[in-house]
Amino acid sequence: MEFKNYINGKWVDGKNRFQTINPASEELLAEVAQAETSDVEAAVGAATEAFKSWRLVPAPLRGELLFKIGDILKQKKEDLARLLTQDMGKVISEARGDVQEAIDMAYFMGGEGRRMLGYTAPVEMPNKFGMAVRDPAGVVGLITPWNFPIAVPSWKIFPALVAGNTVIWKPSPETPAISAAFVQVFEEAGVPAGVFNLLLAPGAEVAKALVSHPEVRVLSFTGSTTTGRAIAESAARLNKKLSLEMGGKNAILVLDDANLELVTDATLWAAFGTTGQRCTAASRLIVQKGIAGKVKEALVERTRTLKLGNGLEETVEIGPVINKAALDRIHNYVQIGLQEGARALVGASVADVNGKGFFYSPTLFDGVAPGSTLEAEEIFGPVLAIIEVDSLEEAVEVNNRSQYGLSTSIFTQDVNRAFTAMRDIFSGLVYINHGTTGAEIQFPFGGVRGTGNGHREAGQAALEVFTEWKSIYVDYSGKLQRAQIDNREEEM
Ligand code: UN1
Repeated sequence: MEFKNYINGKWVDGKNRFQTINPASEELLAEVAQAETSDVEAAVGAATEAFKSWRLVPAPLRGELLFKIGDILKQKKEDLARLLTQDMGKVISEARGDVQEAIDMAYFMGGEGRRMLGYTAPVEMPNKFGMAVRDPAGVVGLITPWNFPIAVPSWKIFPALVAGNTVIWKPSPETPAISAAFVQVFEEAGVPAGVFNLLLAPGAEVAKALVSHPEVRVLSFTGSTTTGRAIAESAARLNKKLSLEMGGKNAILVLDDANLELVTDATLWAAFGTTGQRCTAASRLIVQKGIAGKVKEALVERTRTLKLGNGLEETVEIGPVINKAALDRIHNYVQIGLQEGARALVGASVADVNGKGFFYSPTLFDGVAPGSTLEAEEIFGPVLAIIEVDSLEEAVEVNNRSQYGLSTSIFTQDVNRAFTAMRDIFSGLVYINHGTTGAEIQFPFGGVRGTGNGHREAGQAALEVFTEWKSIYVDYSGKLQRAQIDNREEEM
């Protein structure tokens, strides 16, 4: 297969190419045209030009285009899911979910075309009217990761487009094939030239050019905290609006009265689904001492039986990690954990699946000490650190001392303790009797502390990132009326 960049409504070749391989088989999947910084200029130029007319297309019609994209995504769901699994490695049922999340987002944001609510409020002068409306921000730059190659970009692309912005999308170079296939859907739906542009490139150069381009007014990034901070520094110098979605060290809290079977099912899914490579994956299990023994026993038994392999096989439960570097990083973290005195209950090794691919055995660590690397750092792989606590209060405290604050879940059947946890957990997402993953697109998504910078994706909250408020005053009195002054004469 071959894929190109998409600029101003055309598929554009590059003088250099790069490759994407299937992480389950290490076979070549596609050759990809490599964008250069000159392509950033071309894309920004096209997006700037296209913005002039796209912002004037009535929002309901922009929304209808999103409905059409949703329809095409639905028709192509299976083909896209299969390509996604080959490009990124997640198992096919999860790949279908990834595409479904984009379908949901297309329809949800399509509806915003007829909503996108502003407001009016009473004004203090007679014969005067006031209203606040949402304006598109202009050209926006989106930088997205490989772990949800369709879902996460759709959280950014659809709100940006329905609000009347034009978009330049720089996806991860790990998943160029599925990214280009996603853009083909927009082309097929008839998105006008220049409104949506795709740049594919390894390395940081193209992303840096996009981030520092003065015509790109809004940036939205999902990825590592280190990269996010670097983008923030660069964006601040140009007064850009920036939405960041970064690291996590998500926790499942288990209280003594929890339903053991449910805890086991939910923990395996949250910790090892997507091979632990979700921003929302559970990587800490904070468990009350009374139930800890039983929970560990059940988890170890089930973890041993998880089936690793090529995600296209329906019975496979755990796919590969994204690449060799990720495999090495995960194994390195496991070694550090052992050196720091934690005990591996299961896993802790590179797995051999027919001698090919980047597989890591799902790993459970016991005896993880406060302040240790396993407790604190995001590993982004199938490694779960188990931490024992005495009480709900201690569980919440351990959760909240993380440098990150994306997703936390708690298992208890006691409504009072559940509500106390809902109040006291400092995370952007809280789940009761459900693992840390599985956010739905109609609610705000994002985190506190080191995870984010105060913005949210998805839900109506996404529109805050991609619109600028414009307050409009209409004075129909026919004379000068000075607010704060001319209605205060009686006070003199
Ligand atoms: C992510 O890991 O970046 O809630 C996104 C979930 C998915 C999205 C995760 N719906 O786990």
